[in-house]
Amino acid sequence: MQIKYGLNSLPSLLKSIGATIVFVLVDEHTSKHCLPLIKKHIPVFTKISIKSGESNKNLQTCEKVWQTLIQKNADRHSLLINLGGGVINDLGAFCASVYMRGIQFMNIPTTLLAMVDASIGGKTGIDYLAYKNMIGSFANPEAICIDTIFLKTLPAPQLLSASAEIFKHAILQGRNESKIHLEKKFSTFSDDNILSCIKKSVKYKLSIVASDPKEAGDRKKLNLGHTIGHALESYMMLYHKPMLHGEAVALGLLAEAFIAHSDFDLDYNEFLKTVFWYDLNFKKPSLESVNLNTLIKLMRKDKKNRSATIRMVLPVGRGKVRTDIEVTEKQIMDGLKFVMAF
Ligand SMILES: NC(=O)c1ccc[n+]([C@@H]2O[C@H](COP(=O)([O-])OP(=O)(O)OC[C@H]3O[C@@H](n4cnc5c(N)ncnc54)[C@H](O)[C@@H]3O)[C@@H](O)[C@H]2O)c1
Ligand SMILES: [Zn+2]
Repeated sequence: MQIKYGLNSLPSLLKSIGATIVFVLVDEHTSKHCLPLIKKHIPVFTKISIKSGESNKNLQTCEKVWQTLIQKNADRHSLLINLGGGVINDLGAFCASVYMRGIQFMNIPTTLLAMVDASIGGKTGIDYLAYKNMIGSFANPEAICIDTIFLKTLPAPQLLSASAEIFKHAILQGRNESKIHLEKKFSTFSDDNILSCIKKSVKYKLSIVASDPKEAGDRKKLNLGHTIGHALESYMMLYHKPMLHGEAVALGLLAEAFIAHSDFDLDYNEFLKTVFWYDLNFKKPSLESVNLNTLIKLMRKDKKNRSATIRMVLPVGRGKVRTDIEVTEKQIMDGLKFVMAF
């Protein structure tokens, strides 16, 4: 798998892949804002357009993609380029990974979240029934091409929400990686600051994934903030106003840091880092109407659990995490109440 920075590298990437037919998967936003930027680098392609948004990351949308691939005679040597955010990257990669038992695909992430997280690591998938990423596969793209030019048209909330994954990577790396996030608001980061954060995140995620591609051990660390984060994201999608993935993860990081400090051995200063970072960047969450019991039920569906217990990744000590920690409902309730009263 090749990772390149800059759209100028597209022609050489395409040459090295040598596909028979090139398809580009877009949604209405990436068709408008991002497709024009790659057109000059890709001489001929067939566009496949789907509707944007998490609510379309489902089986019906996959069927549309597969039907178009069949109608346009996609063969086993075709290439699917996923030009978009995490939804396009996850869904397109899943479609490619099972079409004719797997065709080549390339990710060109156009959101910050997709650049630092969703486009990397080989997890593909779609939502099924009420559950996020319930159906999916592990499959790696031939290449990932990252260019921050796409971020110019990305709405500000999308940028901010993705900074939660960047902060998570910084905490996981320990050392001094979270320093810049505590010095200034993410919204004031320069283009260079953002590019540097992306490169660090990509390098870190790749190193973890390389050591544990199928999440048998070390990779579980990347789920920091996600047990509570995913449950909140699903809850909001089902019962309320949908919440951005990173917003949910930011709340998850906060709640899980509280649990880790109260009931496990997270250093007080480390706990304060997450509190300070959240406070610096995010507004007070409006979670008054959230039913905590329903949220906990959703957490029980988390793929990280074994039997009936809820397990999560928690920060411990300084700059370290422990995976598979069994957490009681009471501890989770306390973490959620802390966040709700924030
Ligand atoms: N596979 C993984 O490892 C992994 C990791 C993290 C998240 N994810 C998944 O990623 C998804 C969330 O990704 P996301 O936050 O990128 O959301 P998204 O893909 O829905 O994109 C957000 C919105 O921005 C629009 N958009 C995309 N690029 C744009 C641009 N350059 N300019 C203007 N608008 C643009 C999209 O059309 C969409 O409306 C979730 O489904 C989550 O489960 C997957
Ligand atoms: Zn995430």
